[in-house]
Amino acid sequence: MGFFDGKLELSVTSASGIEAVTKRELESLGYAPSGATYGRISFEGDYRDMARANVMLRTANRVFINIARFHAETFDELFDGIKNIPWQSIIPKNARVIVNAKSFKSKLYALSSIQKITKKAIVTAMGSLFESGGTYTLEVVVNEDDVLVALDTSGTALHKRGYRTYVGEAPLRETLASAIILLSIWKWDRPFVDPFCGSGTLPIEAALIATNTAPGLNRNFAFENFIKAPEVITSVKEEARDNIVLDRDLRISGFDINKDAISLALRHARNAGVDSKIHLQVADMRTLSSRFSHGVIVTNPPYGERLLGEKELQTLYRDFGKAYRSLDDWSAYVITSYDNFERYFGARADKTRKLYNSELECKLYRYLGAPPKRK
Ligand SMILES: C[S@@+](CC[C@H](N)C(=O)[O-])C[C@H]1O[C@@H](n2cnc3c(N)ncnc32)[C@H](O)[C@@H]1O
Repeated sequence: MGFFDGKLELSVTSASGIEAVTKRELESLGYAPSGATYGRISFEGDYRDMARANVMLRTANRVFINIARFHAETFDELFDGIKNIPWQSIIPKNARVIVNAKSFKSKLYALSSIQKITKKAIVTAMGSLFESGGTYTLEVVVNEDDVLVALDTSGTALHKRGYRTYVGEAPLRETLASAIILLSIWKWDRPFVDPFCGSGTLPIEAALIATNTAPGLNRNFAFENFIKAPEVITSVKEEARDNIVLDRDLRISGFDINKDAISLALRHARNAGVDSKIHLQVADMRTLSSRFSHGVIVTNPPYGERLLGEKELQTLYRDFGKAYRSLDDWSAYVITSYDNFERYFGARADKTRKLYNSELECKLYRYLGAPPKRK
């Protein structure tokens, strides 16, 4: 039996603050994930499940096959542990091997040495490596002296769905945008508005969720070049296509004051195949109004450092607070790195959550409107 046949230990990484959302996603795909340790969640599955996780997860950064675990406090122990892995059945002779390293609270902490020793041990185990073929990226994580060797099956990080061809001003990562929407009370039958939509990430992710469209349908993954033939990807993408629901009556809108941002958002929505599901329009947030009640605003307004000066930002947040309160029983989820957001928005959030947009520490402020009356 080859290394990739049968049950495998799989893991996914996810950004700080959204691990619980990723765990819930895995559960709804039918897996039994572990709790998160340093942003990594493990679960059991086979090669096809690895492909499913890559294609279907909205909030994970990457999917890995966990290859080995062992204890190591010295570089000799690390070398032996790596050398004992059955590399011949995992990577081909011509593999181009890249090693990334992470260390938490461990005696082995020099990352470049961990990388070098790992590579040396693999070459020793394989006899030689020609490095002319497909890339295999390994992650060696040393956590309290326990080593995990994991093979990256995603390649390009999963936030890159493939629809965002040009980067707008201060865009939100697609995985984070999706996590915020999944954390919100919004469901496809409620109105969704992003009044500061920029390049369209939030409304596009909302439309992908509402139509049950897998985020990875239009991209490739590193595992498609792996030893085991990539026939699974075709069947997983077929499953994902069968899951798409197109007959829902959606009310998803994105507005931005900048017409170039709206052009970009339109282009991205077209790339994602959801342009007919979203209303995108140039508009100043100050004119926000709706004939619907119980809608949900999910947004990432300008936050100062790069986009606006402090005074302008305070005025903008104050006006945004007024516009929000003029809506009938709407809820709002606002992500910003500006510490005094609540003060200028004019209301204390009923819940806040710390999240990171790339490296930038942000908070998600939640304002819940009254729920719709039961029919
Ligand atoms: C942080 S960016 C949003 C980025 C977006 N989430 C994305 O992923 O591309 C904030 C956006 O607010 C827009 N903006 C600034 N003032 C506005 C206003 N008064 N009304 C509507 N949009 C405004 C900017 O043009 C900018 O595109």
